[in-house]
Order: sequence, then structure tokens, then C-alpha cells
Amino acid sequence: MTTRIIGTGSCPGDHVVSNGDLAKIVETSHEWIYTRTGIQTRHLSTGLGTSGMAAEAAKLACDNANINPEDLDLILLATSTPEYCFPNGACQVQEKLGAVNAAAFDISAACSGFIFALQTAGSFLASGTFRNILVIGADDLSKITDWGDRGTCVLFGDGAGAVVVRAEETGCFHGIMKADGKKGKVLSCPARSEGNFLTGKTPEMGYISMDGQEVFKFAVKKVPECISQLLSEQKISKEEIRYYILHQANKRILEAVAKRLDEPVEKFPMNIGEYGNTSAASIPILLDEMNREGKLDRGDKLVLAGFGGGLTWGSVLLEW
Ligand code: ACO
Repeated sequence: MTTRIIGTGSCPGDHVVSNGDLAKIVETSHEWIYTRTGIQTRHLSTGLGTSGMAAEAAKLACDNANINPEDLDLILLATSTPEYCFPNGACQVQEKLGAVNAAAFDISAACSGFIFALQTAGSFLASGTFRNILVIGADDLSKITDWGDRGTCVLFGDGAGAVVVRAEETGCFHGIMKADGKKGKVLSCPARSEGNFLTGKTPEMGYISMDGQEVFKFAVKKVPECISQLLSEQKISKEEIRYYILHQANKRILEAVAKRLDEPVEKFPMNIGEYGNTSAASIPILLDEMNREGKLDRGDKLVLAGFGGGLTWGSVLLEW
């Protein structure tokens, strides 16, 4: 059995914030942000939070797939911003959807989370364990952003994207997942772990910190390597790929990946200008937009690729 995406949905944060708006709270400018990242606006969530945005995206994906939530066997939520340690965010989505027959758990792999969750779903479908799986990428990064740090706060946005995947006899679905824990500090955000009554320290939540240049170097090296390995293992030529749908971290990273792969940048759709970097949500939001705009035809071969904190990275080759 192989894996096919049969429906998509998305829910960006409800409030649009421009570069000019950010220039009022930190020393920055539209020109600086846009030329270095391609970002013009981002959507921040003021109410729904991670599970609410995830559930909205999931409802739209189920409608688009023409599937009843009760037919879902599993919900996988890729997120770095769950609202609770437990219940996990996937269980919150299960409740909001009424997906009473689905098991539900979260996957944490930062901006690679959707790619890791999709491959986890693919393994369950290939083994015959499940038939219909909802895979969501959702992040509410504005809640772990230091709004006084101009080096990071201009980059991120909130949102959720979801796909329904089904086990099918025909098609193509292959993936690669990688990690390098030694470089974990390059991009990190502490959880509440420091204190108890013995240490006398108060547990505190932290904010995102990032070595931007290291992330840039990592992404432009590892992502093309990973995609090339995937295509060579599957004996697929670059000419057969219709689109490369990459994590929307930075326009310059995507352009550099296209150059290293020696592929036209037009094969790398982008919506970072509108949404900023929405972490685990960026790939499924873009996929949903392309699906609804009729840009994807059945049989198209797509490469999806994510990269982010961990460090983690990975790619998926699939047939639409
Ligand atoms: N506005 C104005 N100036 C700024 C801002 C800002 N928002 N942010 C940093 N600066 C300043 C710095 O303070 C520094 O000033 P200085 O020279 O006086 O010290 C100067 O700009 C240069 O800073 P750098 O960090 O060297 O800027 P760089 O050209 O590397 O661009 C950027 C920063 C855009 C983050 C770049 O490193 C990058 O694209 N990195 C990739 C990281 C990324 O995309 N992360 C996304 C999250 S991770 C992920 O999704 C995988």
C-alpha cells in the first residue's frame, strides 16, 4: 500500500501584522526585513491558539477529502507550541472534530515536524495498521517569540495546515528523515524544566533563540543533499518533479536551494511574503493554497522538504 493526500485545509492566524507594524515596536524597517527574508506580512493568532487553528484546518481538510471525521483512524499533530504538556494537541483536535475513532498524538520536530509526521503516517498506512490519517502542522510561534528581539521577531507567523492521507494501491510515496542533535543550540527554545524544591529555581518558559547565519548555512547545504539523495534512491529525474514545496523559512534560502539543485526557482512556490515562517504549518498551508487554486493535477510528482530545530530535516517524494 502507498500513501496519497486526498484533502487539504489551512487556517492562518487571524490578525495580519505588517513589517511597518513591527517597526513601531523594535528598531527595524520594511526594507531590512523584506530584502533579507522576502517577508511582507505575517498572520498572528489572537484567539484560537494551536489546537483551535489546527482543528479549523482539519475540518477544511476533511471536507475537501469528503471524509467524515469519524472515519479517521489517527490524528498526528506536528507542533512545537502545544497548549498543554497533556492532553496533547492532537487529542484536543480529536475532541473539537468529533473524530471519536481516531488515536491521537503529537510529533515534535520544529519546522520539520510536518514532514516527519507525514512519513510517520505513511508508515502506518504502508503497514496496513490504519487507512485514513489526518496529518496537521500547527504552530502558534508568536507565544514563544521575544517581541523585543528584532533578530527573530520579524521572521515568524502563526497558522495551521492539514492533510488527510489514505492508503491506496497505486501512486508513489517515499521519504527521508535526518537529525543532528549536536547542533541543537543553533535554533532552540527552552521548555519549563529548570526548577523544583531542591534546586530552589523557579521554572520559567523561554523564547526562541537562533543563530541565523548557522541556520542559513545548514539549510542550503542539507536540504539539496537530502532531496538529491531521495531522487537518486528512487531513480526519479529532476525533470519529472512538478514542484518542490519547501518549508517557508526565508525566500533567500529557497532561492539558494533551487540554485544548488540547478532547478528553476519557478518550481519552488512561495507564500512566505504573506505568512512569514509558520514552522510546522508552512508546508501544508502552501499545499492547501496550491490545491484550492487548482495548481496541482493528479499524477504530478511533488517533493516536499522541511528543515529546522533539532537540528532536523527531511523530504518526501509523492504523487498527487
Ligand atoms: N532589523 C534591522 N536590523 C537587524 C534586524 C532587524 N530585524 N535583525 C538583525 N539586525 C541587524 C543585526 O543586529 C546586525 O547588526 P550589526 O551589524 O550592527 O551587529 C545586522 O542586522 C546583521 O545581522 P545578521 O544576523 O548578521 O543578519 P543576516 O544578514 O544574517 O540576516 C537573517 C539575518 C535574515 C535571520 C539571516 O541570517 C537568515 O536568513 N538566516 C536564516 C534563518 C532563518 O530563516 N530562520 C528562520 C527560523 S529557522 C527555520 O525555520 C528553520
